Amino acid sequence: MCGIIAYLGDGETVAVLLEGLKRMEYRGYDSSGMCVITRDGAKLEIEKQAGKVANLEQAVAGRNFKSNASLGIAHTRWATHGPPTAINAHPHASSDGKLAIVHNGIIENHSSLKKKLSAMGYEFVSDTDTEVLAALIRHVQSLEPNLSLAGAVSLALTQVRGAYGIAVVDESKPDVLVGARRGSPLILGVSDDSLVLASDATAVVGLTAKVVYLEEEDIVSCQREHDQETGKTKYSFSVSSMKRDSLLVEAGETSAAGGDEGADQSAGVFSSEDEGPMMSHKLDSRIMRQMTLSNKAISGEVIRQMHELKMNLQTIEKGGYRHFMLKEIMEQPRVLRDCMRGRLDPLSGKVTLGGLMPALDRLAKARRIIICGCGTSWHAALVGEYLIETLAKIPVEVEYASEFRYRNPVLFKDDVVIVISQSGETADTLEAVRVAKKHGCLCVGIVNIVGSSIARETDAGIYLHIGPEIGVASTKAFTGQVMALSMFTLVLAVQTGALLQDEANRLGLELAEIPDKIARMLNEDTLNKIQNMASTYRYAHNFLYLGRGTNFPVALEGALKLKEISYIHAEGYAAAEMKHGPIALIDEMMPVVILAPKSDVIYEKVKSGVQEVVARKGSVVIITDEGNHDLDDLAEFVIETPITSEYFSAMITGIPLQLLAYYIADYRGCEIDTPRNLAKSVTVE
Ligand code: F6R
Repeated sequence: MCGIIAYLGDGETVAVLLEGLKRMEYRGYDSSGMCVITRDGAKLEIEKQAGKVANLEQAVAGRNFKSNASLGIAHTRWATHGPPTAINAHPHASSDGKLAIVHNGIIENHSSLKKKLSAMGYEFVSDTDTEVLAALIRHVQSLEPNLSLAGAVSLALTQVRGAYGIAVVDESKPDVLVGARRGSPLILGVSDDSLVLASDATAVVGLTAKVVYLEEEDIVSCQREHDQETGKTKYSFSVSSMKRDSLLVEAGETSAAGGDEGADQSAGVFSSEDEGPMMSHKLDSRIMRQMTLSNKAISGEVIRQMHELKMNLQTIEKGGYRHFMLKEIMEQPRVLRDCMRGRLDPLSGKVTLGGLMPALDRLAKARRIIICGCGTSWHAALVGEYLIETLAKIPVEVEYASEFRYRNPVLFKDDVVIVISQSGETADTLEAVRVAKKHGCLCVGIVNIVGSSIARETDAGIYLHIGPEIGVASTKAFTGQVMALSMFTLVLAVQTGALLQDEANRLGLELAEIPDKIARMLNEDTLNKIQNMASTYRYAHNFLYLGRGTNFPVALEGALKLKEISYIHAEGYAAAEMKHGPIALIDEMMPVVILAPKSDVIYEKVKSGVQEVVARKGSVVIITDEGNHDLDDLAEFVIETPITSEYFSAMITGIPLQLLAYYIADYRGCEIDTPRNLAKSVTVE
């Protein structure tokens, strides 16, 4: 949703904040703002603007915003409370202008808090829940003037219901930055000359590769001091848990890095895999000392393990493409290879998934598998259902995470719940994990973002390893999710005995060829053809997408892509369903995209669907196998795709639909990477 960056360091604070905001703009882009403080403790200064970060950048340049600032917080917003105006943009200051905060999430009881604080004389200028939190912290400071900033923030948070990732600064403490999280991600970047808080690793890349993934209800206090011995400035941090039952252990320091060394690795989640960035999230269990805050708001300091960020600047830049979305479509061959690297042996075709090892036995004995996700991830789950039932012979149900979490599902201890999420932070999907675990089910995550909440809370899992996805509309994440599900299915099918190892390996070899096939498809001819098609259909008001088997979810996904970025209404249907209703819509104004790979066992039936559309003068686009000219006479456009097994075709056939949506949106002049009303990671319900 929103993006937070906060910086305490020797660098160019304003520039660091602006760069961080630009990188996180995909998280929210209706307004942005920043607040900076100079070391001499001069008054904190705030600038906020409606619209894109570019507007903020211009405003900051125009007013000679403090260039010597060395502490600052900044925010890019996706509005939840109040319209996207400059007043509602973050940071929000307390009414005396002494304290400022940026916030990602929702304070559910903000109305009642606001009423109480107003009655005590606090004034509010915005409609936001965040301004209430700023006033609340200030109020705590007035009651307990001796509390540290972290102490005051944590005490204020005891009064709050809801979700937050926050960063807070206080004008009288120009060397202190405080952050806290509950239900909203926050990471700490650590280097010798700075500490950075951000809701997203993309904002930290280039500043440092050392990060700490803060955990639920962590509060971090970052300090700058003058080291008498060395005469140098020293940066240190301490993380405490606001959980009542947290372990009480020592804090970290940038020089000692508060991290890896000596950590007692007690609670692995996505277990470490040979191939790299999969990791365990461990909590040191050495009890060092108890904090003695009278109010017990902070129950103890904790050690959080330091991790090495694998992301580099190249992975978060457009690399010469006009949009991130196009870059992410075009890089799919490479990222699928990354997804398979070290897991699928290209010589034998054998798949090994280290992150699943501890759970494999239980997985194979599952009475039933339930897969939960939202949006595109839910579409990938539908492909997974088909694969797992067909190849591993375990019954599968697919649920929207938002429905699953609220409908009191009947769950058994031998059910396995798989959650799929690119961001690893989607609120409904995260809650589905908690529901599953409450019922004693094994919970497996298929996640892209390393260290995300879902990765941490699931019992086992598979990281996608496809690099950051910045375009708001998911493209490579869908393909990566299907690849991960395909590898998962092969491993599971062998374990259940539904496939012999040799049979699974044969399919594995087929899987290994997918990236090359996609690369071959993404040639100039295909791109020109799709561009041409997009130009023809750019003024359409409605689209239908039809597919069967694994291509039914691809049809749903194609329709979603078009809706999201071009704002054209589109529907995806199982091809045979068309005659049960949607056929009424078909006329010469209705483009119908039909996925008809010849490998589909019901290809002949799909063919008759094509004829039904043509008979009603619908304009038909066919996605079919290379060399298949059966349908040329019926279709306006035919896109030929490399042939693969019907199990895996979704990874190939989905790509022309991504490109079609992209080019149509481009012709219509839409904001492709940041479509209206959307946010990349939906951390509110
Ligand atoms: C569509 C899209 C969304 C996400 C959905 C779930 O292009 O991006 O529908 O798929 O919000 O997000 P994750 O996968 O991060 O849980």
